[in-house]
Amino acid sequence: MSTRAIVLAAGMGTRMKSAIPKVLHAICGRPMLWYTLRALADAGVDEIVIVTNPQVDAAIAPLAGDFSARTVIQAPQRGTGHAVQVALAALTPAAGTIVVAYGDMPLVTPAIFEDVIADVDADAGTVLALVTARMPLPSNFGRIVRQSGGSAPAASSGSAPSGVVKIVEARDCTPAELAIDEMNAGIYAFDEPNLRAVIDKLSDDNAQRELYLTDTVELLIAAGCRVVPVVADDYRAVLGVNDRVELANARAALNRTLCERHMHAGVTIIDPATTYLEPELVVGADVTIHPNTTLRGTTVIGAGSEIGPNTRLQGARVGASCVIRESVVVDAQIGDHTRVGPFAHIRGGSIVEEHVHIGNFVELKKTTMHAESKAGHLAYLGDGIIGERANIGAGTIFCNYDGTNKNTTTIGADAFIGSNSSLVAPITIGEGALTGAGTVAIRDIAPGERVVGNPGRALPVPSAEPIP
Ligand code: UD1
Ligand code: MG
Repeated sequence: MSTRAIVLAAGMGTRMKSAIPKVLHAICGRPMLWYTLRALADAGVDEIVIVTNPQVDAAIAPLAGDFSARTVIQAPQRGTGHAVQVALAALTPAAGTIVVAYGDMPLVTPAIFEDVIADVDADAGTVLALVTARMPLPSNFGRIVRQSGGSAPAASSGSAPSGVVKIVEARDCTPAELAIDEMNAGIYAFDEPNLRAVIDKLSDDNAQRELYLTDTVELLIAAGCRVVPVVADDYRAVLGVNDRVELANARAALNRTLCERHMHAGVTIIDPATTYLEPELVVGADVTIHPNTTLRGTTVIGAGSEIGPNTRLQGARVGASCVIRESVVVDAQIGDHTRVGPFAHIRGGSIVEEHVHIGNFVELKKTTMHAESKAGHLAYLGDGIIGERANIGAGTIFCNYDGTNKNTTTIGADAFIGSNSSLVAPITIGEGALTGAGTVAIRDIAPGERVVGNPGRALPVPSAEPIP
C-alpha cells in the first residue's frame, strides 16, 4: 500500500509581513517548505500534494517539481481542514496511509514522519497517529487534551498508548486548557478511508470561523476509532515558524544541528555560532572550519583542509589538504594541497589544480591554473589557461574583454610573467617565455622568447642581459 502526503502551504503567512510567501522564506539556504518536502521524500513517501493559493502557486510550483510533487490551489483559505478537503478532492481515493504536514516546520526530520506512519494500523483500529510535543510555553499552538487523569508520558518513552480526547486551538481554550504543556505539532498520519469518512463533517464553529483539521480527532474518536499521540523527543524539531523572530530562531537551531552533524563526523568547527552551513554539504574528516565562514550549496571539501576565517564557499569543490583563508570561492574547483588567500576571489568555471598558490587580492574568472602554478599577489586572471609551474607576477592583468567579446589568454608551462604585465587577449605565451616588469603584450610570445616594454618588443636572442 502506498503512503501519500498532503503539505499545507496556502495560508497567507500574514504574521511574516512580507511580499514573499511564508513557506518560501529561506533557512540555511533553502526555502522553509523544502525541508518538509525533503523529510517526507527521505521517509519514503510515494506521492506529495502541496496545497497553495492563487497568489503563491507559481512561486511554489518549481520547488514542488524538484520533489515530483504537484500543487493544488485552495481559494479561499478556510482553514487547515478545508485545505485537506481540497487536496483529497484532487486525489483519487486509495487505501493506505496519508500524511498531513504543514509547510512551516523546517526543523522536522524524516524519523518523525517514519514514526508517525508506523503507528497507523487501520486493521487494529488505529486510524490516526499525530505528533505532539511537551514544551514550557506552547503560546499559540493547539493544546492536546487527554482523558482526565491521563497525562503525556516523558518525551523519551516514545508513543503513548492513547488518551487523547481532542485538540483545542489556543484561541478556543479555557484557562485550564491553556495551561496544558503538550502541544499539537501539526504532523498527522491518517488511514485514508477513515479520513475521507470524517473530513466533510468539520464545522467552523470556533474563534477563527475556520475548518480545523484538528477537529478530526474528536470525529474519529466518536466513530469508534483510536487516535494515538507520538510524543516528539525534542519539541524544537517540530516548531512551526509564523513570524521573523521564529524564522531567526529556527535558522540558529538548524545551523547548530548541521554543525553538530559534521562535528560528529570528524570535522572541527571552531565556532558553530559563526559558521553558516547548508544541508547538502560534503565535508571530509579532519577539516577545520574557522569562524565567520559560510559554506553554501553543494560545496564539497576534501579531508584535512582548513577553511576560513572569513571565507565563503558556494558550489565549490575543494580537494584534500588545502588552505583557504579570508577568501570567496564560487562555482569553482580547487585541487589537493592548494593554498588560497588571504583575500582571493575565485569565480565561476575556474579550475585550480593541485599544489597551486593563489595569494592576496587575486581574482580568477573561468580560468584554469595547472599544477604548481603561482599567482601570489594582486592579479585579474579572466578567461585564462595557465600552464604547470608558470609564475604570474604581482599586478598581472589578463585583458580579456575588447568591448564585445571575452578572449582567452593561454600561458605555457614554466612561463614567467613579470610584475605589472598586461596581456591583451586573445594571446598565447609559449612555454618558458618571459615578460619583463610592466610589459604590455599585444601579440603572441613564442616559447622561450623574452619580451619587454609597451608595446612589448622581443629582446635579442640569445641574450644574458638583465631585463630593463
Ligand atoms: C496549526 C494547528 C495547531 C498547531 C500548529 C503547529 C490547526 C487548526 N491548528 O496552527 O493546532 O499547534 O499549526 O504549528 O490546524 N494553511 C492552509 N490553508 C488554510 C490555512 C492554513 O494551507 O486555509 C496552511 C498554512 O500555510 C500553514 C499550515 O497550514 O503552512 C498551518 O497554518 P497556520 O496558520 O500556521 O496554523 P497555526 O495557527 O500555526
Ligand atoms: Mg503555523
